[in-house]
Amino acid sequence: MPFDIEWVRSRFPDRRIDWHSSIGSTMTEASRLAASGCEFGSVAGAEEQTAGQGRYGRAWHSEAGSGLYVSIVLPKPEHPSVVPMVTLALGLAAVEAILKATDLACDLRWPNDLLLESKKCGGILTQLEGPAIIAGIGINVNQSEFPPELSPLATSLRIASGRQHSRERLLVELLPSIDNFCALLDSEGREPILRMFSCASSYVYGRRVEVDLGESVLHGTTAGLNESGFLILRGDDGSENVIVAGGVRPCS
Ligand code: BTN
Repeated sequence: MPFDIEWVRSRFPDRRIDWHSSIGSTMTEASRLAASGCEFGSVAGAEEQTAGQGRYGRAWHSEAGSGLYVSIVLPKPEHPSVVPMVTLALGLAAVEAILKATDLACDLRWPNDLLLESKKCGGILTQLEGPAIIAGIGINVNQSEFPPELSPLATSLRIASGRQHSRERLLVELLPSIDNFCALLDSEGREPILRMFSCASSYVYGRRVEVDLGESVLHGTTAGLNESGFLILRGDDGSENVIVAGGVRPCS
C-alpha cells in the first residue's frame, strides 16, 4: 500500500513533511532542508532509499514500501555535552511510538538500536548540520524477509508479531514522542533520560557484551551509563572503560 502522506500531514498541519517515492538518503535531504533554514521539526521521509545510511558508514537496507525511513531536523542543544543524549532520547521516543502504534515492546541496545526478540528492528543515526541535529530513524515495519546476510540479525515488526502494521500510524505517534522526549531533555536535563533509558534497555546493566571499537574489540559486562550517557563496561579484571561509540553485541 502506498504511504498515505496526506493523512499524516492532516494530523500535523503546521509541520513541513516532505515525502519522496525514492531517494538516496533522507539524511542528505534533511541536511539540505536544514541548510536552507527550514523550521525545526521539519521531516524528510521516503518510501524507498537507494543509499540508506547506517552507523559507521554501513548501508541501511531500505526496501520500498515496507519500512519507515525518516529524518527530522531538530534544534542542537546549546551545550555540546548534551548532544549524545539526544540519541538516547530518540531511542526512547521510538520505543514509545512503536508501543503505542503496535503494542510491541522493543528493547534498546545502547546507544540506538531498537530490538525485538534480540534482533534489530530499527536504528537511529544523528548528524550535526549547523544549528541543527538531523535525526534519522529507520524502522523495519512490514518486511517479510531480509537478505541472507542480514536475516540472522534483523527483524521487522511484522515478522515479530505475525501481522502487518500501519507505517502512517507509526509516524503519527513518532513525531510527538520525539518532541516530548527532546522537550524533557531541554527542560529537565539529562537525569530523566538517563534514568528512563536505563530502565528501558536490557543492555545498560549486567550484560556480557563485546564492543567493536573499529581497531579493537573489548569484552566485559555493562555497568550503567555515566552522566554524559556513555556506556560503562567493566572488564573481568574489574577495570572500567567508558564507551563513547562502538558496536555493542551480546556475547557469552
Ligand atoms: C543504524 O545503523 O542503526 C542507524 C540506521 C538509521 C537508518 C535511518 S533510515 C532514515 C535515515 N536515512 C538514512 O539514510 N538513515 C537513517
